Amino acid sequence: MTDGTLGRAVVTGASTGLGAIYADRLARRNYDLLLVARDKARLSALAEKLVRETGRSVEVLALDLTDSAQVADLARRIEEDDSFSLLVNNAGMSLHGTLATSDADEVARLVALNVVAPTLLAQAAVKALTKRGKGGIINLSSVLALAPERFEGTYSASKAFLLNLSQSLAAQLKDTEVRVQAVLPGATRTEIWERSGKDINAFPADWVMEADDLVDAALAGFDAGETITIPPLADEDQWNAFQAARLAMEPNLSRREVAQRYRV
Ligand SMILES: NC(=O)c1ccc[n+]([C@@H]2O[C@H](COP(=O)([O-])OP(=O)(O)OC[C@H]3O[C@@H](n4cnc5c(N)ncnc54)[C@H](OP(=O)(O)O)[C@@H]3O)[C@@H](O)[C@H]2O)c1
Repeated sequence: MTDGTLGRAVVTGASTGLGAIYADRLARRNYDLLLVARDKARLSALAEKLVRETGRSVEVLALDLTDSAQVADLARRIEEDDSFSLLVNNAGMSLHGTLATSDADEVARLVALNVVAPTLLAQAAVKALTKRGKGGIINLSSVLALAPERFEGTYSASKAFLLNLSQSLAAQLKDTEVRVQAVLPGATRTEIWERSGKDINAFPADWVMEADDLVDAALAGFDAGETITIPPLADEDQWNAFQAARLAMEPNLSRREVAQRYRV
C-alpha cells in the first residue's frame, strides 16, 4: 500500500472499456488497485501506465470470473486484504442471440459472470467492509434493468438482479459508512457490443455515450451519495416518480386476503 491511499479498490473487467476507465479515475483519486480480467497482457499494460502516471500501487490478477473456484479465490482475497476499501463489480457480457437462439453454455456463462460472480464478490466485500466500518461497492447494472422489453432478456434480467441487490444492500447498510451504488448506463461505446456480435454504430449517434463520460458521471453520482445513478437520464424527476410509485405499492404487497379481481 502506498502513502496517502484511500485503500485498495478491486475493479473487475479492468482490461478494457468502463473497467479500465474506472481504474484510471480511481488511481488518480489515490486508490491503490487490484485489476481483474482474463487478459493479463492488457491488464499489465494498464497497470504499468497507471503506476508511471500516478505512483499508486497497482496489482493485476488474470482470472476467469465464470469459474467458481477462481471467484472464490478473489472473494477470499477481498476478505483477507486489510487495505481493501472499494469493489467495482464491473465485468459483464451480453449474448450473441436471444435466450431461444443462444448456446446454453453461453447463457450459463452470462449468468455466472453477470450474476453469480458479482454477488459472491459483494458478499465478501460486505463482510470485509462492515468489519472495518467503511468503504464502497459499485455494481454496474444497466438501464435495461428498467426497460426489459428493449433487449435480450437474460442480459437485462442479470442487470435487474444487480439493481435489486444494490437497493437491498444499500437499505441494509444505511446506518453504516459502507456505501452501495448501482450504475445504470445506457448504450456506451465499448467492446461489449462487438464481443456479442452487435454494431454500436447501428444506433442513432445521440443514443450512444462515450465511456469516459459515463464513468465520470457515475463517480459524480457516487460522490453525491446516490444509490442509483443513471448518467443518461436528464430528468431526475422521472426516476423519483418511479421510485415513489414503487414504494407506495409496498404496504399493499403482502396480504391474507386475495385481491378482489382474483376471487372466484
Ligand atoms: N457498454 C455498454 O453499452 C453498457 C451498457 C450498460 C451496462 N454495461 C455494463 O458495464 C460493464 C462493463 O461493460 P463494458 O461495456 O466496459 O464491457 P467490455 O468493454 O466488453 O469489457 C468487459 C470487461 O469484462 C472482462 N471480462 C469479460 N469476461 C470475463 C470473464 N469471464 N472473467 C473476467 N473478466 C471478464 C473483460 O476482460 P477480458 O476479456 O480480458 O476478460 C473486460 O475487461 C458490464 O457489466 C456491462 O454489462 C455496459
